Amino acid sequence: MNKPRNIVITGFMGSGKTTVGALVAARLKRPFVDMDALIEERSGLSIPQIFARGGEVFFRALERGLAHELALQRGLVIATGGGTLVQDELRGMMGRQGRLVCLQAGKAEIRARLAESDGRPLAGDWQKLLAQRQAAYAQIPHQVLTAGKSPQQVADEVILLAERSLYVQTPQGGYPILISGGILRDIDRYADLCGLGGSVVVIANETVAPLYGEALVERLPDAALITVADGEAHKNLATAAAIYDQMLALGADRHTTLAALGGGVVGDTAGYVAATYMRGIPFVQIPTTLLAMVDASVGGKVGVDLPQGKNLIGAFKQPQQVIIDTDVLATLPAAQWRCGMAEVIKHGLIARPTLLDPALWTRENSPQLVRQAVQVKVQVVEADPFERGIRAHLNLGH
Ligand code: S3P
Repeated sequence: MNKPRNIVITGFMGSGKTTVGALVAARLKRPFVDMDALIEERSGLSIPQIFARGGEVFFRALERGLAHELALQRGLVIATGGGTLVQDELRGMMGRQGRLVCLQAGKAEIRARLAESDGRPLAGDWQKLLAQRQAAYAQIPHQVLTAGKSPQQVADEVILLAERSLYVQTPQGGYPILISGGILRDIDRYADLCGLGGSVVVIANETVAPLYGEALVERLPDAALITVADGEAHKNLATAAAIYDQMLALGADRHTTLAALGGGVVGDTAGYVAATYMRGIPFVQIPTTLLAMVDASVGGKVGVDLPQGKNLIGAFKQPQQVIIDTDVLATLPAAQWRCGMAEVIKHGLIARPTLLDPALWTRENSPQLVRQAVQVKVQVVEADPFERGIRAHLNLGH
């Protein structure tokens, strides 16, 4: 009964779904279903023969029947055909039960794969078909770019997204929250998946910079570090102005991504800078305190304090990604851990009684603890993205 949700891998013809799906299934020790292969096996006909006998309509009928059947099962890794999840009905149905991941291959890669395979019925005008389908593929929450990556690397990314991430829907779109111990150590492999593959400026305070900031920028392909003073007293316009100055000196432009590495003060300040620098640039949250992981890094509220009060200047600036490496909690001071636990317990009281079990309240259990607590925050911000109602409940005790 307790089988995990299906992982459903989709993408255009030639994007590597079957190869990657088999690797994911082997790694997770789950059964693998290649939909086209199963359709062929059951009908005793190849896909080109099915198209030749009954046209695309016949093929789609077989595909729809199988999709319905698979959506009732759990624990599978499924590679769809390239057109399966373009259909709204099937995307909705398979997405309700399973985690959908779309492989996005470059045109050169698709061209090469189609050239080496035999007779895909719809491969004729594939560029046009791809253009028609892009909007449907884009609706799939998790996307993996495959260009230049080995199938194993793509499989690792699929597993990370399907198994260790949550997804927040926002009025502006949505973004994934990756929760995985050790991801910062492996960030060179996952830079692109984490939105950190291009030009990046990382903001960290003087405590976190030597612990994690310096190593992070070294592992990223094109990143610089800006260090700010530690503490709530520095969450102000003067710090924001100092960051703007340094970003200009670094040549940061509209394509630069700003990454906040730290607790709520750094996340709020860097987020405010990301919302305003050149009228807004991409933003990634990498929270390093338990409190920031379960609260401030999710939901897009950013800002700075004025002498008259807290958070009087700010914006709703949704991050492109939230990257939570629970391993960094190992160096979190005990007092900071307790601050975060107070928030976790509050989330438990508001919406998730399982968080009230003291057996979960240890650093060893932090991946599950954080995941469950973040789920509460996700539910609340999805229901009330601009804090017009229920989201204000999260301010209890702040
Ligand atoms: C199709 C793609 C094929 C197969 C069928 C239809 C499509 O699968 O399902 O020919 O509509 O894109 P691959 O994506 O594995 O080639």
